[in-house]
Amino acid sequence: MNWDFKVTKNLESKIKKTDFDNLAFGKDFTDHMFIADYKDGSWTDCRIVPFEPIMMHPAAFVLHYAQSIFEGLKAELSPNNDILLFRPEENAERFYKSAERLAMPPIPKDLFLESIHKLIEIDYEWIPKGKANSSLYIRPFLFATDPVLGVRVGETFRYMVILGPVGSYYSAPVKVWIQDEFVRAFPGGTGEAKFAGNYAATLQPVLEAQKRGCAQILWTDGLTHSYFQEIGTMNIFFVIDNTILTPELNEGTILRGVTRKSLIVLAQEMGYKVEERKITVEEFIKAVEEHRVQDMFGAGTAAVVQPISGFVYKEKEYDLTNLDREISQKLKAKLEIIKKGEIEDTHNWMYKIELNKNSQSN
Ligand SMILES: Cc1ncc(COP(=O)(O)O)c(C=O)c1O
Repeated sequence: MNWDFKVTKNLESKIKKTDFDNLAFGKDFTDHMFIADYKDGSWTDCRIVPFEPIMMHPAAFVLHYAQSIFEGLKAELSPNNDILLFRPEENAERFYKSAERLAMPPIPKDLFLESIHKLIEIDYEWIPKGKANSSLYIRPFLFATDPVLGVRVGETFRYMVILGPVGSYYSAPVKVWIQDEFVRAFPGGTGEAKFAGNYAATLQPVLEAQKRGCAQILWTDGLTHSYFQEIGTMNIFFVIDNTILTPELNEGTILRGVTRKSLIVLAQEMGYKVEERKITVEEFIKAVEEHRVQDMFGAGTAAVVQPISGFVYKEKEYDLTNLDREISQKLKAKLEIIKKGEIEDTHNWMYKIELNKNSQSN
């Protein structure tokens, strides 16, 4: 289907006021945003408009009952100035499934891709150039707008995409609190969906984590706290006895990370043994005590590959700063050169947006 897009240009660009040398994560936004509304059973009124606050009815369903999902992906520039997205079809698929789980009308995958494509065509100058760890972050999101109180399936929804140049997600090594108290997800819940409420519910536990010197939580299963799920915004990987381990996805409690899926393929191609299975806290602690753990890292779009420098479990602190990190460094390097288009795309992972203009510098 070909979507009809109306474009209203922003006549006052903020780009010159943006400090591309000191980008944080999620604080700067480009000049335009995409909006589509769901009315009378279909997605209509697709438009790109100047970036600005939106009006909401005070009774809008999302404000009271949190019916909202989102996605996150990045655009980078290749050495010859092609704009590259990494596996956006995977995000389109996950967004579709998250919408189904939250009883919202899914965004057709071609609309998801076209909305991002057209918005980037307009705001491409915002993609950071030649700056390590910087890229253009893409945030599609979908929420319920029915202006009526009362919990029921709604009839009106809004889909939006905003963009912003970003730097590193974590500025320091990350220590995690292995959970034996709070719960993020359980079978039959919403853990696998990129549902806004999943994140809001982790904030108070994260404050508790911070009291223990940890930036993030490593979640365990909700019923027994005996095996690992994932970190707040990343999937988790361990390397024990030369085997790469990551929790299996079959309970519907863990987000199906695009980075996770891609690292598994790359690791296998590099000749490493990879196991997707239940990993118990007990076997991990034992391996740490016996010095058999070689690496531990989080994987996600925002941080790519993030070394875990230590953890707290049952109020005891464990230091992992001396791990050799060889495997995570190799995987990170490989994934980054693929994403930047610096080597041949043998997996057909890259989605290219070609411009007919010469991009300007920022
Ligand atoms: C809970 C959670 N797990 C894992 C990930 C990593 O997923 P991806 O690699 O698709 O960014 C994210 C980030 O999107 C996340 O929010």
